[in-house]
Amino acid sequence: MKIITIVGARPQFIKTAAVSRAIKKHNLEHPNQAIQEIIVHTGQHYDHNMSEVFFAQMQIPHPQYNLRVGGGSHGAMTGRMLEKIEEVLLQEKPDAVIVYGDTNSTLAGALAAVKLHIRVAHVEAGLRSFNMRMPEEINRILTDQISHWLFCPTETAVKNLERENIFERKQIKVSNVGDVMYDAALFYKQIAQPTEAINSLIDRLGNNFYLSTVHRAENTDNPARLSSIMEALDTISQNTTVVLPSHPRTRKLLGNQNIQNIQILEPVDYFDMITLLSNCRGVFTDSGGLQKEAYFFHKPCVTLRDETEWVELIEHGFNTLVGADKNRIWEVETNLRNSIHDYSKPLYGEGNAAQKIIENVLDINQ
Ligand code: UD1
Repeated sequence: MKIITIVGARPQFIKTAAVSRAIKKHNLEHPNQAIQEIIVHTGQHYDHNMSEVFFAQMQIPHPQYNLRVGGGSHGAMTGRMLEKIEEVLLQEKPDAVIVYGDTNSTLAGALAAVKLHIRVAHVEAGLRSFNMRMPEEINRILTDQISHWLFCPTETAVKNLERENIFERKQIKVSNVGDVMYDAALFYKQIAQPTEAINSLIDRLGNNFYLSTVHRAENTDNPARLSSIMEALDTISQNTTVVLPSHPRTRKLLGNQNIQNIQILEPVDYFDMITLLSNCRGVFTDSGGLQKEAYFFHKPCVTLRDETEWVELIEHGFNTLVGADKNRIWEVETNLRNSIHDYSKPLYGEGNAAQKIIENVLDINQ
């Protein structure tokens, strides 16, 4: 069986690491039923520390194709990807295509495949923010509509698909397999080797710091929201250092902010990220993935958005939504210091999501 995996953005490298490992394991155990996996990198994230470093560190098979479609407007980026992915699919004629999450690479991969009547597996299906101004929301709704296997990470995601009547479509397989990011966190935390720079940062700060990331268009492209968030984090950082690995786009905009205390870093690799997560007191983020990773590492999270797809974290009190309001951020930080939670109930499966995905895809005639 031949599978093409389409990735392009940082969180997708982490997700594919878990699935590629499951494929490798399957091939060792069942050489007669081996899966040939070809990785296509769209080039959406192209900086070394946003891309290459993840492949090397997480031992993801080297992409056989790099389409070099990075930057540009959403329409231009998605359109160029669609054209180039189609060429690869025509040449390789895979039995199935796997796409991850909700980026422009996800939508372009799914659309190119389905038009060639190739079955699409969507990993992280069924998530919804119910905010159609987010490019990610558009990407995920459309990808779910055209995928054959819808691999949901949670029961909430399955319910979202039920509400959209997706089950009425013929030839569709919806399953709650758990979250591949949980698989990745469980595996890589055992072998994570942080860089010298992060080790010495942690030697200096101990666990007296918060970890933060800010990169969502709704925050970075809105000057009022960005300055409110940065003012809040900068004040917090007077007492408890806020460590902020920056996304390239956010980095460009931070020059206009009055930042005195936040410790801004270049983007960090996965091992450094999980080391920061394991040691921090809590997380302030607008990232989807980091909200869950905070939970995997038993850290309270404050989400700098008006809504989240990971509603179970809010319902169980692991995460608090604050938007970009500085007063709310300060207020929640005060409570964070005393918060104690019970992390014993698994919300994202048992850490074997990737294996379940492979078993389903192998059963291609079902
Ligand atoms: C994308 C995803 C988002 C995901 C995020 C993870 C979409 C619509 N959004 O957003 O869901 O959470 O990735 O990081 O697909 N840039 C660089 N170097 C890079 C990558 C990007 O300089 O290696 C610049 C781009 O040129 C662009 C900006 O950063 O100007 C944003 O990159 P883009 O890929 O458009 O979207 P992200 O914000 O990263």
